[in-house]
Order: sequence, then C-alpha cells, then structure tokens
Amino acid sequence: MVSSPAATQSLARALAAHLRPGDVVAVEGGLGSGKTTFVRGLATALLGTDPVSSPTFTFRHRYGGTEGSPALEHVDLYRIDDPAELAELGLEEAFATDAVTAIEWPERAPELVGRPRWRVVVDGSGEEPRAITIERLD
Ligand SMILES: Nc1ncnc2c1ncn2[C@@H]1O[C@H](COP(=O)(O)OP(=O)(O)OP(=O)(O)O)[C@@H](O)[C@H]1O
Ligand SMILES: [Mg+2]
Repeated sequence: MVSSPAATQSLARALAAHLRPGDVVAVEGGLGSGKTTFVRGLATALLGTDPVSSPTFTFRHRYGGTEGSPALEHVDLYRIDDPAELAELGLEEAFATDAVTAIEWPERAPELVGRPRWRVVVDGSGEEPRAITIERLD
C-alpha cells in the first residue's frame, strides 16, 4: 500500500528504470486514484525533472525527447466517449517508437492501445492509501 503521492511517484520511478522507448504503459484506476501522479513519477525519472502538466493538456502531451533522454508521451482518454472520435485526434503518433507512452483510461480505446508492455492498476481514492500493481505483459 502507498499512502502518499510521493510514495506513488517513487514506485513509478522504480518502474521507469525498466522502460525502453516503444514501451506502452497502461495506467488503470478509478477517478482520482492517482494515475496522473504515477505518470508524473515516470516523467521525473525519465526526464530528470518534474514536469508541470500543461493546463491545456487534454488528450496528449509529449515531454522531453531531446538531448538523448527518451520522450514520454502522456495520453489521457478520459474524455473519449466514442471510439470514432479517435481517428480525428491523431493519437497514433503518441505510439512512436522513440517514446515511452503512458495512457490513462486505456480501456476507453482498446484498439488504439493494443497490448501494452506494462499494466499498472491504481486502486483507492480520497484519503485512502492506494494499492498499486505493476505487471509486465509479455
Ligand atoms: N498514494 C496516494 N495516496 C494518497 N493520495 C494520493 C496518492 N496518489 C495520488 N494521490 C492524490 O489523489 C488525487 C488524485 O490524483 P491524480 O490526479 O493523480 O488522479 P487520477 O487518477 O489521474 O485522476 P483522474 O481520474 O481525474 O485522471 C491527488 O490529490 C493526489 O495528490
Ligand atoms: Mg489523471
């Protein structure tokens, strides 16, 4: 169990050490469970800085990818109601082989996400401690 955002990020940093460009990380869990918190931990480890997420970020944001560190693509599919919307968003580009791709709400677009290399499930909300499972799928 992890009982603080900092502890969630520390688990994410442990996972980041195993990630390679082209890896897809599906981050599942209910509203407010801490998925974005986890992805920020990945970003901190991969980029060396804690990115302040863009206030305009809706579906996709790309971090880093310069000076030799791998890029991190952060995709959030929460607002996808109809898979037909996906075609217009060009999200396939987020699965570039030079990037690690982390996706919140992957279950909203299974065809886009395909079979991820890693599956993270965050369970819990509010003030509760979270249970986080990390699974490698190949
Ligand atoms: N392990 C933890 N223990 C306690 N609180 C946490 C933990 N991880 C994250 N939180 C807190 O939970 C809240 C929601 O976090 P976050 O935005 O990362 O969730 P989310 O799953 O991305 O939400 P959404 O479903 O809206 O995308 C934040 O206030 C965050 O600080
Ligand atoms: Mg989120």
